[in-house]
Amino acid sequence: MSTDFSHRLAFYRERLQATLDASIPADDIYPARLHQAMRYSAEGGKRLRALLVYAAGEVLNLHVDHLDAPACAVELIHAYSLVHDDLPAMDDDDLRRGRPTCHKQYDEATAILVGDGLQALAFAVLARAAALPAEARLKMVGLLADAAGSRGMVGGQAVDLASENQSLSLPELEALHIHKTGALIRASLALACSAQPDLLATHEYALDRYGKLIGLAYQIQDDVLDIEGAAGELGKTAGKDVAAHKSTYPSVMGLAAAKQRAEELFDEARSVLSIFGDQALPLVWLADHIQGRRH
Ligand code: IPE
Ligand code: IPE
Ligand code: MG
Ligand code: MG
Ligand code: MG
Repeated sequence: MSTDFSHRLAFYRERLQATLDASIPADDIYPARLHQAMRYSAEGGKRLRALLVYAAGEVLNLHVDHLDAPACAVELIHAYSLVHDDLPAMDDDDLRRGRPTCHKQYDEATAILVGDGLQALAFAVLARAAALPAEARLKMVGLLADAAGSRGMVGGQAVDLASENQSLSLPELEALHIHKTGALIRASLALACSAQPDLLATHEYALDRYGKLIGLAYQIQDDVLDIEGAAGELGKTAGKDVAAHKSTYPSVMGLAAAKQRAEELFDEARSVLSIFGDQALPLVWLADHIQGRRH
């Protein structure tokens, strides 16, 4: 990876952090404990979804000021989804981003409310994004709501839980992954597209396809890392999919085939960007970066 790209990732992450800090009410604002827990839950993480918003924005020649709100909004939704995903009624996890999960650090009721608060905040951030025209904000609110809701991430989570102790077919598992993880990743690209008023249909199509392919590859990798990763490296409990009898890519097609499938998806994701020529480099680099991840 070129140094230029590492600098760019650091810059994007700083922009995101500054926007999160400005958006989540300070730790001493009433009700203080809830705001502390919201801030706690939005800390850490790889920030992939925000990075996708910024990198896609760069490919589309957008000013970075136009990307802070959508990058922040999608990370807030993602952070909320993880807080709820870890609850005892869902995956019942103790470790997240290298620290106790929200319900372990605080308590279960707080974790439920943290998720609710983060989700509402995501839409407030978009609605009030002063750098963007009203039309773009409205489009973003609608598409992020769809991606987060029952036709997207939450729908995938419902099917994921209903599928415990069952063996899914490959098409069923693909549909599950595309919803629970793919929807927000795909939305990250669509959010960037919404900030470009002169977007070409061919560019929108290519970025949507890239988002779909990366989204599926990312969850396959998550399944692989659950088996292969060391808990310390992952920052979350390893081996929990097997323990919970979840259908995963490795369980359905075998570990080697699952890895192979992820590689193919990353290759295809890079190839759909050819329409942009060198302008697509930030997203090509990001695909390489994600592909090489160990956590
Ligand atoms: C974890 O997402 C859950 C999935 C949807 C795969 P990430 O691996 O992106 O989590 P963070 O944000 O880096 O903690
Ligand atoms: C989570 O999938 C997807 C979400 C929508 C949060 P997982 O349950 O596999 O995520 P991890 O492994 O706990 O991060
Ligand atoms: Mg889960
Ligand atoms: Mg989980
Ligand atoms: Mg997982």
